[in-house]
Amino acid sequence: MTAISLTVNARAVDADVEPRTHLADFLRDGLNLTGTHLGCEHGVCGACTLLLDDMPARSCITYAAACAGARITTIEGLDEDDIAIELRAAFTREHALQCGYCTPGMLISARDLVLRLPVPDERLIRVGLSGNLCRCTGYVGIVRAVRSVIAQRRQRGVMPVPGGGRTQLGPVGSGNTAKTPSAEAETATPGKVAAPEQNARAIVIPDVVPAQTVTHQFTVAYPPDRVFQMFGDVAGVAACLPGVALTGAPTPERAEGVITVRLGPIAAHFQGAARIERDLAGLSGRITGIGRDQRSRTTTQGEIRYRLVAVDQGAATRVDLSIGYSLTGVLAQIARPGLVRDLAARLTAEFARNLERRLAGIAPAAAAAPSLNGITLLIDLLRARARKILQQVFGT
Ligand code: FES
Ligand code: FES
Repeated sequence: MTAISLTVNARAVDADVEPRTHLADFLRDGLNLTGTHLGCEHGVCGACTLLLDDMPARSCITYAAACAGARITTIEGLDEDDIAIELRAAFTREHALQCGYCTPGMLISARDLVLRLPVPDERLIRVGLSGNLCRCTGYVGIVRAVRSVIAQRRQRGVMPVPGGGRTQLGPVGSGNTAKTPSAEAETATPGKVAAPEQNARAIVIPDVVPAQTVTHQFTVAYPPDRVFQMFGDVAGVAACLPGVALTGAPTPERAEGVITVRLGPIAAHFQGAARIERDLAGLSGRITGIGRDQRSRTTTQGEIRYRLVAVDQGAATRVDLSIGYSLTGVLAQIARPGLVRDLAARLTAEFARNLERRLAGIAPAAAAAPSLNGITLLIDLLRARARKILQQVFGT
């Protein structure tokens, strides 16, 4: 159990929570605040939306234990709120609810729009509410209600609050919550890269027991000793990995850097360090690393083991890779093992292409691709899977 202190609807709350309890369960089961609804519990439908440090956030993909020091406002906490009062009246007037299941989350997101938008622009309202799904499909009435509240407030001279008062955007809250003690890399400021000597002090690389392991192979048309030599060039290898940027000069045993992964609207910047071990006799090696994305409070630990095998009478090299990883935190809930496996396969393929280019003296293409676009990967993935299913069905 983890002891936390936080503020819920302006009331101080102290509680012991299981590390895996999400914020919505904590509020509903622990505090009887059942106005926060649960639909998908995957961060998709928006039914569980509430305010975390004054920003709309999905409580089903937010750990309660990560909210120590945070200020939570649920729909119950907006009883006396000016905007919420106007929105409730407008929802009634415009028939903006039917079963009402989506309504608490919808009101929280709508309140944020009323606060921020200077004019009642329908397109912006629809975009702003696109993360809240209404299974009764009452969107026309909902949009009409939100437009009317914005229009009336601006007519009365109530000015919008730029950015809704927020200073940062991110998947869960404004980042004002208390820091968790286990976050070695958490002292880093988002968007800024810590000096290498600071990182060297802050980041400890523990031994890893991976929760998931995937294996891959690829072949490059160069002899093993040449490839092994290339693997010893830490900066060169990093340049072959899409989304990776070193934050200081590496040594043969250690490197520090940032890996950026973009999954649709969510960008994660894992800042961390890696320990490098090589075995010349066995033409093999191991890279052990840890990285933390401060915004989503997600930590990843992993290891890459490689072994080089001579093929084509030593003219080419088969690279056997074993990639093990563990993911803890918010992103662990949406990063399904299948998606991560396929992502690793794509990364490996891109790494192999870049490695081959580098061995041939050509600059790796990864330098121009600083992040991974999860949507593109997802679409490619779905295409590949659809192709596979069609081949199985029609035998083509
Ligand atoms: S329950 Fe659907 S987003 Fe949280
Ligand atoms: S009113 Fe029924 S889900 Fe939106």
